[in-house]
Amino acid sequence: MKIKENQNSFYGISTIKRLSLYVISDKVMNLLRPLSIDTPHARKVYIETYGCQMNFNDSEVVLSILQKEGYRYTERMEEADVILANTCSIRDNAEQRILGRIEQFAFQKRKRKGVLVGILGCMAERLKEELLENSTVDLVVGPDCYRRLPELLQLCEVEGKGIDTLLSREETYADIAPVRLDKNGVNAFISIMRGCNNVCSYCVVPYTRGVERSRDCGSIVREACQLFENGYREVTLLGQNVDSYRWTAGDGTVVDFADLLAQVAAVNPLLRVRFSTSYPSDISDKLLDVMASRENICHHIHLPVQSGSDRMLEKMRRKYDRAWYLERVRTIREKLPDCGLTTDIIAGFCSETEEDHRDTLSLMEEVGFDSAFMFQYSERPGTLAARHYPDDVPPEVKTRRLNEIIALQMRKSEERYAAQVGTTQTVLIEGPAKRGEGDLCGRASNYMMCVFPGDGHKAGEYVRVHINAATPATLIGEIE
Ligand code: SAH
Ligand code: SF4
Ligand code: F3S
Repeated sequence: MKIKENQNSFYGISTIKRLSLYVISDKVMNLLRPLSIDTPHARKVYIETYGCQMNFNDSEVVLSILQKEGYRYTERMEEADVILANTCSIRDNAEQRILGRIEQFAFQKRKRKGVLVGILGCMAERLKEELLENSTVDLVVGPDCYRRLPELLQLCEVEGKGIDTLLSREETYADIAPVRLDKNGVNAFISIMRGCNNVCSYCVVPYTRGVERSRDCGSIVREACQLFENGYREVTLLGQNVDSYRWTAGDGTVVDFADLLAQVAAVNPLLRVRFSTSYPSDISDKLLDVMASRENICHHIHLPVQSGSDRMLEKMRRKYDRAWYLERVRTIREKLPDCGLTTDIIAGFCSETEEDHRDTLSLMEEVGFDSAFMFQYSERPGTLAARHYPDDVPPEVKTRRLNEIIALQMRKSEERYAAQVGTTQTVLIEGPAKRGEGDLCGRASNYMMCVFPGDGHKAGEYVRVHINAATPATLIGEIE
């Protein structure tokens, strides 16, 4: 398969689509208020989200904040009074896409008087006032300033423009119950921390998200309880580096990520728990032991390796080397033999040679990931790499290397999925399959997507599925 310049690819994980259901008031978490209750003249807000799962969860927080001030959510941009884009800066193509989108928002503004356009998220944080130079953009709000959104929107009405991009050392939005935007009412995200304290030399996140801070453990467990009571059957705990989660309770007890995971898993045996992202030098044996000891903690780890070359890993300022990574994989497979393993890989980082590239291919061969997000290196202004290392791998070489990485991953995914044929998997049904009349889909514990005839079952139920066939991204089977 050929890939166009700077295009990214991922096999095996499909995007989760989402829809509004309800909001939970912040202090009294068990009081539900339907989102559909209309105030006749309520201002309507439309939001588009780009980037990672944490950004999706942030959009849910934003809607909760705005809804409390009387705004109403709409899925139709054409009827919105406020158009928001929650943006991503991770690679240049992510930003280019959003800049293109702003042009389409301009059309809405020309058509309907009084429409406000706001840019939120990482691009707002990175570009700040520069975004306001675009006449379409009225509002720029960074990831730690969402509580001020209602006030800033008012300011826009009066003064024409509004901006706040201050980063915080404390903000975790712990008391805000996100408006759930998932389509199926089965899986939900819970952000357990914000920011990142690592300084991977290629990465913009520490600059756009600020320093790492963990969220109050009690508020996370309460949110999980509430979701379970509302019919959700799977929660994914989110952070840039979940293994460094750390919360000191009032009595001085320290809760680390393994403790938190155990507490969330204890909410109910029918609530599945997943998490993302793990950092190779921080993932602990204690965590693996907790995963092995609870049925409802899914056996899947997303463990981004980035490169198989020690020279590249050092230059990327990742805090592990190839041998360390491979040792972690061995331990994972010893303790959790059926564990799904996925990763992120960057092709063509500064000064990468053919030998470095071959090291990445050989690591992929050795580990055999189920699937991977694979990217070409994209220089981000202001990062360590942008300041110190020339972006010197020619674009055509980056593309060729990425294509080789993708081709190898395709083969590995095929092997990994085929190896599940003949097994029986416990699957949490997410809803109708994209193709196949009457077919349902849902994930196995190891994160592989399964498709099977529905037999009268519905979303949110657990079924045992016997696997009869596989593609590189799907297991095909039937309920036992
Ligand atoms: N916190 C996570 C990753 C967050 S960003 C971790 O450290 O694993 C998601 C992925 O985007 C990264 O794992 C990396 O593979 C990719 N990425 C980040 N910056 C990039 C850049 N400048 N160019 C290309 N890919 C990048
Ligand atoms: Fe970026 Fe590294 Fe932090 Fe991940 S761990 S968000 S790659 S700085
Ligand atoms: Fe993108 Fe920001 Fe997430 S840069 S990947 S939206 S933390």
